[in-house]
Amino acid sequence: MGILEGKKILVTGILNDASLAYATAKEILAEGGEIIVTGFGRGMSITSRVVKRLDPTIEVLELDVANNDHFTQLATSIESSHGRLDGVLHAIGFAPAACLDPSMFVAQWEDVATAVQISAYSLAPMISHLTPLLKRGTSPSVVALDFDASQAWPGYNWMGVAKAALESLNRYMAREAGKDGIRVNLISAGPIRTIAAKSVGGFSDFEEVWANRAPLGWTVTDPTPVAKSTVALLSDFFPSTTGEIIHVDGGFHAVGA
Ligand SMILES: NC(=O)c1ccc[n+]([C@@H]2O[C@H](COP(=O)([O-])OP(=O)(O)OC[C@H]3O[C@@H](n4cnc5c(N)ncnc54)[C@H](O)[C@@H]3O)[C@@H](O)[C@H]2O)c1
Repeated sequence: MGILEGKKILVTGILNDASLAYATAKEILAEGGEIIVTGFGRGMSITSRVVKRLDPTIEVLELDVANNDHFTQLATSIESSHGRLDGVLHAIGFAPAACLDPSMFVAQWEDVATAVQISAYSLAPMISHLTPLLKRGTSPSVVALDFDASQAWPGYNWMGVAKAALESLNRYMAREAGKDGIRVNLISAGPIRTIAAKSVGGFSDFEEVWANRAPLGWTVTDPTPVAKSTVALLSDFFPSTTGEIIHVDGGFHAVGA
């Protein structure tokens, strides 16, 4: 019997089969969980196609986190089809190109506002709209994906600032959702080659440094450690952990050189 047997999990952020959310969806199914998937904009048709490979009966619902009506429709749709949720994966990040320019002084406020809205703030309306469903779940758990914001990285720039906001928001969401018995945590992942990662100019710098320095080593093409650790947080095996950031990075964060 898998550790997610009987659990209904909402998985956001599957763009293609390289997405961290796709690897996580596979592990959730392998552990006996059921998934409801969301897709975004023009990527929805690709999302539907790759998800069908996992299971042709999986629903793909539309969610643009910048559109408040989508959250309302999503909650209504899950309410009528499933009646509850036991877990949610927030695997959503976006920053306009100016935010990832080598110079920090190129992005204008509108660019930065978009990066923060999509990559950090969106966790709040997601939790707010889904709380009635999560309250009916068993040991409900929300997990979002983070990239260590305790240091400045080459090229990550305003996306790094958005991740710092996400790390803080994680703690505030844990306070807020705790009274309803809902856990909120982040997985701080090492670099993995995905579409989102391709837009980060300094990504190849991270790749080399990570593989050489991480005590356990690191493979940028293997999302499985991130997926398995996310599954652990979604399961009942972290019953008293919330507001936490779990590093799944081969131990890179713990060593200086
Ligand atoms: N790949 C890495 O190295 C890495 C490392 C640490 C954390 N992360 C984080 O993991 C998460 C998933 O990214 P990924 O690397 O799997 O890349 P990805 O490109 O596969 O996923 C990013 C997802 O964000 C979605 N998205 C963008 N704007 C959206 C919007 N307005 N509404 C709804 N969805 C929207 C995209 O459709 C896509 O599914 C992101 O938060 C990313 O920052 C990635």
